[in-house]
Amino acid sequence: MGGQNPYIEDADIRLPARRFKVTFLDEQKQEHVIEVNPAKVPFGDHGLPGSLLDIALGHGIELDHACGGVCACSTCHVIVREGLDACGEATEAEEDRLDEAYGLTAKSRLACQCVPNGEKDLVVEIPSWNRNLAREGH
Ligand code: FES
Repeated sequence: MGGQNPYIEDADIRLPARRFKVTFLDEQKQEHVIEVNPAKVPFGDHGLPGSLLDIALGHGIELDHACGGVCACSTCHVIVREGLDACGEATEAEEDRLDEAYGLTAKSRLACQCVPNGEKDLVVEIPSWNRNLAREGH
């Protein structure tokens, strides 16, 4: 499954006009620095085009996305440590889903709905708890 969820309101999205960097911190706290070329958006067919999920999967970074990136789960929960103000605002639908995420922070977003506008470089942490909870069958 991929693409957009037709039942939720459109996110307010501004796609980047210039190259920028996203540093993903994976579950082992390893850094993966990606240079995002806006001319290549979308990188795949999961999540909103140009979303953090789209960027991650398109550059070989593992990120859970149980619903395929249509804002219908919370497994793509990430924490945008830097550059959150250079991302489109969360919709109500995203916030409702995020409420279900474990370990919610003020900088939490759903990676499939969070689209950076390229005005700043980002640092994005992929928390490990979702994956662990899924493995343990909670
Ligand atoms: S992948 Fe399901 S909400 Fe993002």
